[in-house]
Amino acid sequence: KSNVITDRLHRPLQDLRISVTDQCNFRCTYCMPKEIFGPDYPFLTQSELLSFDEIERIASQFARAGVEKIRITGGEPLLRKGLPALLKRLRAIDGIRDIALTTNGILLPRLAGQLKEAGMDRVTVSLDTLDDHLFGRINGRGVGVKPVLKGIEAAHQAGLSVKVNMMVKKGINDGEILPMARYFKHTPYVLRFIEYMDVGTSNGWNWDDVVSKSEILSIIGDEMPLNPIDQNYYGEVAKRYRYRDGHGEIGIISSISDTFCSTCTRARLSADGKVYTCLFTGKGTDFKHFLRDGASDEDLFQRIVETWGNRADRYSDERREQGAREQNKIEMSYIGG
Ligand code: GTP
Ligand code: 5AD
Ligand code: SF4
Ligand code: SF4
Repeated sequence: KSNVITDRLHRPLQDLRISVTDQCNFRCTYCMPKEIFGPDYPFLTQSELLSFDEIERIASQFARAGVEKIRITGGEPLLRKGLPALLKRLRAIDGIRDIALTTNGILLPRLAGQLKEAGMDRVTVSLDTLDDHLFGRINGRGVGVKPVLKGIEAAHQAGLSVKVNMMVKKGINDGEILPMARYFKHTPYVLRFIEYMDVGTSNGWNWDDVVSKSEILSIIGDEMPLNPIDQNYYGEVAKRYRYRDGHGEIGIISSISDTFCSTCTRARLSADGKVYTCLFTGKGTDFKHFLRDGASDEDLFQRIVETWGNRADRYSDERREQGAREQNKIEMSYIGG
C-alpha cells in the first residue's frame, strides 16, 4: 500500500478504535468501581459527544491515512442510541474492510440482528467467569452469566463472528481459567485471556494481581495440551494457541509479561473527540473543537499525519523495563481498551 504512514518507531497506522460513549450498564470493580462512578459522576453530555457526522468525517480521514480496521468501544457501546446507523456510514468508507465491536454482551439479544444488517463483521464479548455469584460481584450490578451467554448466542445466530475476552486477576477469577477454557473449547467462540493491566488511576493495580501468560498456559495445557500457532495478521495483540486434539484455539493478551508495543498499530478516538496514541497516555489530541471550528477534511488529515508522525509511545515495554509508572492516564471506561 502506498498511503501507509508510520510513527517515530516506524509503526504503521492500521486500526482505529472509536469509543462512542463513556457510560456503561455495568460497574466492574476493576474498570468503573461504583464508589467512583456513582450517581454524581460527570459523564460526558450529549453536546460533548462527537455526533455521527463528526465520527464519520474523522474516520474517513483515518481511512485515507491507512486505517482498514475499526473497532467500536465504550464504556458500553451498545448504549449509544442509533449505533446501527453509524455502522452503516462507517461501512461505506473507502478502505475499511473490518468492523468489530467490544461489548459486555447483555444488549446483544436485542441488537445483534441490526448490527449485522448494518455491516458489522464481528463482536468481542467480555466475560470474566461462568460463576453467577462471582460475576455479579465483578460487574457490580449483580447480573448473572446467562444474559451474557444469551448475547453471545444471539450474535452467533445473527451471523457475526464472536470472540470472548476474559480479564484475569489473581485471587479474583484465576480459578475460572479452566472452567472457561473447558466451556468455550466446544463452541465456535475463540476465548482470549487478558493479563490484568495498570490502566487508568482507579483500579489500584499491583504486579501481584497479574496471572502471566506462562501461568495461564500451564494451567490449561496441563489438562488440555496446546501448541502455539502463527498470528493472523501483523500486529495482532493476542498470541494464539491451538488444542493438540484439534478442537479449538485460545488467545492470550500478555500486555504485562510479553509486551507488544513494537507492533502497536492502534489509534484511539475518545467519545469526546480526542485521539490517543496509547492506552496509557493521559494526553489526547483534540479533533472535536478543531472540527467544530471549521477544519476541512484536508486539515483533519494533516492533523492525523502529524499526530501519528510524532508518536513514540511504548508504555508497556517501558513498564517491563523500568516498572509501572504513576502518571496521569486515561480510564479504560473512557477509551474502551
Ligand atoms: P482482534 O481484532 O479480534 O484481533 O481484536 P484485538 O485483540 O485487537 O482487540 P480487543 O479489543 O479484543 O483487545 C482485547 C484487549 O486487549 C483490550 O480490551 C485491551 O485490554 C487489550 N489491548 C488491546 N489493544 C491493546 C494495546 O494496544 N495495548 C495494550 N496494552 N492492551 C491492548
Ligand atoms: N486490565 C486488563 N483488561 C481490562 N479490561 C478492563 N480493565 C482492564 C484491566 N485493568 C478489559 C475488560 C474488557 C476489555 C474492554 O478490557 O475486561 O474485556
Ligand atoms: Fe465492565 Fe466493560 Fe463496562 Fe468497564 S466498560 S464496567 S469492563 S462492562
Ligand atoms: Fe500500544 Fe501503548 Fe499498548 Fe504499547 S502500551 S501496545 S504503545 S497502546
